[in-house]
Formats: sequence, C-alpha cells, structure tokens
Amino acid sequence: MEELKRQRVFNLLKSDVSHLIGQKINVKGWVRTKRGNKNVNFIALNDGSIIHNIQIVVDVQAFNNDDLLKNVTTGSCISVDGLLVESQGQGQNIEIHASEIALYGSADPDKYPLQKKGHTLEFLREIAHLRPRTNTFGAIFRIRHALAFAIHKYFNDIGFYYLHTPIITGSDAEGAGAMFRVTTLDMQNPPRKEDGGIDYSEDFFGKETNLTVSGQLEGELGALALSNIYTFGPTFRAENSNTTRHLAEFWMIEPEMAFYDIKDNMDLAEDFLKYLIGYLLENCSDDLEFLQKMYDKELLDRLNFVVENKFERLSYTEAIEILLASGQQFEFPVSWGVDLQAEHERYLVEKHFKKPVILTNYPKEIKAFYMKINDDNKTVRAMDVLFPKIGEIIGGSQREENYDKLFGRIKEMGIHEEDVWWYLETRKYGTAPHSGFGLGFERLMLFVTGMGNIRDVIPFPRTPQNAEF
Ligand code: 4AD
Ligand code: MG
Repeated sequence: MEELKRQRVFNLLKSDVSHLIGQKINVKGWVRTKRGNKNVNFIALNDGSIIHNIQIVVDVQAFNNDDLLKNVTTGSCISVDGLLVESQGQGQNIEIHASEIALYGSADPDKYPLQKKGHTLEFLREIAHLRPRTNTFGAIFRIRHALAFAIHKYFNDIGFYYLHTPIITGSDAEGAGAMFRVTTLDMQNPPRKEDGGIDYSEDFFGKETNLTVSGQLEGELGALALSNIYTFGPTFRAENSNTTRHLAEFWMIEPEMAFYDIKDNMDLAEDFLKYLIGYLLENCSDDLEFLQKMYDKELLDRLNFVVENKFERLSYTEAIEILLASGQQFEFPVSWGVDLQAEHERYLVEKHFKKPVILTNYPKEIKAFYMKINDDNKTVRAMDVLFPKIGEIIGGSQREENYDKLFGRIKEMGIHEEDVWWYLETRKYGTAPHSGFGLGFERLMLFVTGMGNIRDVIPFPRTPQNAEF
C-alpha cells in the first residue's frame, strides 16, 4: 500500500473536506457491519473518534483476493485506501471507494462476542474489555472525556488551581466509610508487636496507610495558601454497598475556597453544574442524541431543564417538614435527625419541587467533624445538592475555622489528635473562613448520559466482588 495520511472519521464527517473529494485517502478502523452482494460490498467502518461510521464501497470483482474480503467481518480491523467521493446513497454525504484494503486483525464471526447487535448492558459488563467498541460505550467514554475536560476548563477560566492530593494517606479523618489498606508487609507472616497486633512501624511508610476516601483535608491546606483550588482524582471506599449509585473506586472533584461562605459555596456549585451540562449540550450533541434515542427519551429535556432553572434551596429542617407532610410511605421512616435516604431525596427532587434541590444546615450528628457549627449548636453548615434520578450528587460545607470549636468536635467524635495535628495547625496559624464541596464524577456521568447503573459510566468499574479487568 502506498503511504497515505490517515484521516480520522471525525475529521471526514465534521470538517469541510471538499478539497479531499476525488482524492485518494486512507482510513483505519473496526468493521461494524458488512453487507452487499457478489458485485458490491458496503463496509461501515468506525474508528471511535465519533459515533458515526464511514461507508466503504468495495467493487468485489476488482478485488481478486477474495480471501481477504471474506475475513473482513464484524469486529475485524482494517486499513483502507480509496477515493473520497460524494455519496449517492441515503444516510451519508461522503463515502470511500476502496482501491486497497489491508487486514490488521480478523475477528472470528463464530466467536466474536459483539458479532450480533442488541446485547444487554449486563452482558456487556462481563466483557468490559470489548464493550468500548459498541456505540453505547463509545458515546459514554467520549462524553466522559469531554466532561473531565470541561471541569478543568471551568476552574482554569475562573482562576482556580488544580492541586494534586495524595492517593495513599495516613489518616482516616474524613470518616466517610471503610478504607482499603495499603501495605507491603507479608500478610502470611506479618511482624508482630508484643501484644500480638501487627507492627506497622515495619511497614513501607512506618505506619498504617490506606487509599484515600477524599482529597478534602489536603485540599483545605492548599486553599489556605492559594485561595482557590480544586482536586480531581480517584477516591476509594470499601463500603459493601451494591447499589446502582456506588463504586468502590470513583472520581471526585473537590474545590476548596478561602473566604467563601456557605452561600458562595452553593452559588459556585450551581454555576459549575450548569456550566458542565451546558458544555456537553454544546459539544457532545451526537453522542447525547444517540443515548436519548436508545435509552432515555427525556434526556435532552432534562439536561436543558437543569441549565435553565434555579435550584431550590432549603434547610434540612424544612425538608423534614415537607417529607412528614407528604403522606408518603417511606421504607425508612422520617423524623428530625435521621440521615436522608435516596428515597427521601428523590421525593423532594422529583415529586415535590420537580427540580434540583440544595439542602443546608443538617444535624451535626449525621455530618463530618469539619463542618462549621451553627449558632443553634445543633446543626452544621452543610450543603448537599440533590438531582433528579440520582439523589445526592454533591456534598459540601462551610468549614469550621475556629480552633477551639474544631478541637471540641474532634474530641467529641473520638478522632485521634495525632492523626490530624497538621490539619488543626491551619486553624492555629492564619485561619480563614472557607468552604468547599465534592462532586461525584460518576454520579454526574449518570445524570448526563441517562444511564441507570454507575457501572456503565466508568470504563472498568470496581464494585464488591468485581475487579476482573
Ligand atoms: O458526600 P461525600 O462523602 O463528601 C466528601 O467526601 C467531602 N470530603 C466532599 C467535600 O466537601 N470536599 O462525597 C461527595 C460526593 C457525593 O455527593 C457523591 O456524589 C460522590 O461523592 N460519592 C460517590 N460516588 C460514587 N460511589 C460512591 N461510593 C460515592 N460516595 C460518594
Ligand atoms: Mg455526602
């Protein structure tokens, strides 16, 4: 084959290629379908750069090498040289009249798992190594990329700095759930202390370490120096919750801002979410339209609705009153002081307000130690953003900046001072009012794709009993 510059299908279909019409070009990709007769074959070729395929037209007679065409089956990978021409057929504007085809890799039609269309999402989860080749997962992973890019763009444009917080941590101060231990000790025969317990002073870091559940505490150290920072990294929670909204490894975005109070924090969260959804509406319309057609007829309406409407803001106490007055039978009964369950959150969002809701001022007993205590001494300046179909998508708060109050909370909650001495020092030296929140990346992915299960919006989900790929 002669050396022709490879064209990405995205460029062929999305940019002005009039100067290439009538020219010989090269495309490479995976065969989605091949149909036709003994005279002419039509190959739908996809290279993952875009949801659409490029049509390759093959004059069968002109290809003496019949064996090659026989092996060009669904799933195989080929390189095609041919003339780019305006298409006579319906469904595409341009197509390629193949002059040469090279086969990189065949895919045995009797064995290739994606030979047939219409697999269930459950089945595709079992072949996570191949599912990126489906239209659905191609769309999802392109949207995932665009969302990650938009997050960095949003913060960069408003002067926030991306701070890398550690993945291995020596503290479990967040108390957000069970942690995954990190160790290089020989688990068959660990060094022992006199009392029989494992001697972690001989471990790699000289102490017990775990995978982080959140970058917030270190993020606060950054905010109390750089003013506005955000983190964006993987976080790990070893809770055994086998739900459609929980992963053991998920990505979180955690902005932290000096001099922001709870109201500033809510304003930022709302603006941020609207920007991200608006960005996807503008930049991922082909993929979103595909997902709407296949999975969720109201997807685009729902996304537009969130962008266009103000979020409802109310206190936890007001929310409890609404739930009590609702006459609904909840699985988990409601009273002041209980932690809200997904069913309560979804009632507020989907039935009562019919729009996103931000709840504030939760009872201190159900929230983390670092949240700023209100004057009533019963509630803290927490804020949770609740979304339709998802429930909690963001959790955040104004932070307690007063050393004595924070120290009191740490004692009350039985947190060891020696685990958080460095955190406490920020309140000793140049403390400042500050706030922040955490957005669950995959929770937002669920919302923007309309998918129903969080395992379907991350390439390789980590859930209890599942780390195959
Ligand atoms: O509410 P969370 O636990 O808050 C924190 O971790 C704070 N440190 C955030 C902060 O103030 N900087 O978690 C934040 C968000 C949740 O609202 C949810 O969207 C997501 O992270 N999340 C999960 N997503 C997927 N799987 C899980 N197991 C999740 N746990 C929390
Ligand atoms: Mg939370």
